[in-house]
Amino acid sequence: MMDALSALHGRVSCPRLIEPAPKGETLRNIQKAAFRAADHARMRPWRFLMLEGDSKNKLGELFIKAASSKSEELTDKQKQRIASKPLRAPMIMIVIASLKQNPKVPDIEQIISAGATAQNMITAAYAQGVGAIWRTGDIAYDQIVMDGLGLSENEQIVGFLYL
Ligand SMILES: Cc1cc2nc3c(=O)[nH]c(=O)nc-3n(C[C@H](O)[C@H](O)[C@H](O)COP(=O)(O)O)c2cc1C
Repeated sequence: MMDALSALHGRVSCPRLIEPAPKGETLRNIQKAAFRAADHARMRPWRFLMLEGDSKNKLGELFIKAASSKSEELTDKQKQRIASKPLRAPMIMIVIASLKQNPKVPDIEQIISAGATAQNMITAAYAQGVGAIWRTGDIAYDQIVMDGLGLSENEQIVGFLYL
């Protein structure tokens, strides 16, 4: 496996991803890297949703619902384009900042920590030859998307990691 500095110095994103999704030890290594993110007061102010297979279709439907609420009737072509977005990778890891009240740790620090889990995961992916890209876009900040994914009021999407 690649050494840590090579991964840190060499990591690049992979916008075009193909099967297979990371599995077994490879996937666990990615998850374990998230849990080593810098984390003020050990709050672990994050959680993750891992989507594969049909869940990605459901995410696409949620994206359509969000887009439909903002514009006039979408054409079938527009719907198709939106629905296909989550299908650009075998796996999507949604990184969520789960903010908790703490007098010593303001929200921004917790969001940064959640971001650090994302960075750790894409680097751990790269180190193992797994392509990844961190994406957001308007959908990451859309209330319909957040509600559909079951986020609470104290939660925000930090990124969609396409793996
Ligand atoms: C918070 C965040 C959101 C991003 N959102 C997108 C996105 O929606 N689409 C995209 O193509 N790149 C997005 N990027 C950039 C890519 O993840 C990537 O960093 C960029 O393409 C540079 O490539 P590199 O990682 O190989 O240097 C985002 C990066 C960050 C940190």
